[in-house]
Amino acid sequence: MILALALVLAAPAPPAHPHPHPHPHPAKDLRQLAQQHGIKIGTAVDIAALRDEPDYRQRLNREFTHVTAENAMKWESVEPERGVYTWDDADALVENARRNHQQIRGHTLLWHNQLPAWLTSGVEDGTIDATELREILREHITTQVRRYKGKIRAWDVVNEVVEEDGSLRQSIWLQHLGPGYIADAFRWAHRADPHAKLFINDYNLEWNAPKIETTLSIVKDLKAQGVPIHGIGFQGHLGIQYDYPADWANVMRRFADLGLEVAITELDVRMVLPVTPEKLATQAEYYRRALTDCLSVRACREMTVWGFTDRHSWVPGWFEGEGAATLLDENLAPKPAYKALLAVRGRK
Ligand code: G3I
Repeated sequence: MILALALVLAAPAPPAHPHPHPHPHPAKDLRQLAQQHGIKIGTAVDIAALRDEPDYRQRLNREFTHVTAENAMKWESVEPERGVYTWDDADALVENARRNHQQIRGHTLLWHNQLPAWLTSGVEDGTIDATELREILREHITTQVRRYKGKIRAWDVVNEVVEEDGSLRQSIWLQHLGPGYIADAFRWAHRADPHAKLFINDYNLEWNAPKIETTLSIVKDLKAQGVPIHGIGFQGHLGIQYDYPADWANVMRRFADLGLEVAITELDVRMVLPVTPEKLATQAEYYRRALTDCLSVRACREMTVWGFTDRHSWVPGWFEGEGAATLLDENLAPKPAYKALLAVRGRK
């Protein structure tokens, strides 16, 4: 008995994140794929579609183990008037996730876009000064993180704070609060929910060297100051008219080496319309490579797509003549990209 106990105690501890061996059978859907690989596969959620479209809702809940609100948790959505909070949409996402065993990425606490008009105009006309702005930001972060304490696995605390040339983005935050706002945002979020994983999130970070270097140094600085930062989010808005970012896995590894969790947070692969079988095949290859890159880096624990059906995607509204960026078509029929993901086997 004592010997058995000693043997048990002496047995090596299981790895913190067991990674299954390559699985013999292709997955039947993304939920099973996520299980096979030991990662989370998520999507951005359009709340109106979640409410009004039963086929969208069913597909969402069948396929995904992780969800991000596409717009419902942004500042303009949750506090359109000063002090008047509108949580209905965000709450609906959280409740749907609870019922369907999905974890949640909170998006986003601090951004330069989709800020409420009362805030931007107040800063512009000087009725909100720097001291008040800092207090408003502290209150916003604290209120939102506290509301979902214990329910949100990971927060995109700061979103897109670096410009393409590697300088800090000239947002109202930098201009009025100075660069220290980034550390403040992480500290306030951590105080409001000490268990949530706190991320810095950005686009073009898959390949843009100045952005990569600045973001790495932001993370190093934060860590050196003891600021709670836990993850790096690569948005992953790709297009087949551009080369696939071939060095992406190495970039992920550089952030992982700083002790961060890595996530692909907003993956989509757009194309110039019309759709052709060749373009769909190229798109499938980009999705496959993104998943393979994530799986090749132990710290990469989540791959989230920015919408799962071409019926609801931000792309056509933003890039004229482009679209078809997601895994399923408008009728929720799987595209080659979906099938390519299911065929990906095991971590390297
Ligand atoms: O709120 C109004 C609504 O009142 C009105 O009825 C409707 C009519 O068009 O417009 C609504 O606002 C739109 C909003 O999405 C909510 O649907 C805006 O016009 C539209 O510009 C906005 O676009 C969102 C965009 O962020 C804004 O920057 C996209 O849906 C959303 O996918 C996109 O997501 C961002 C991530 O948050 C950060 N990374 C990049 C990514 C893609 O741009």
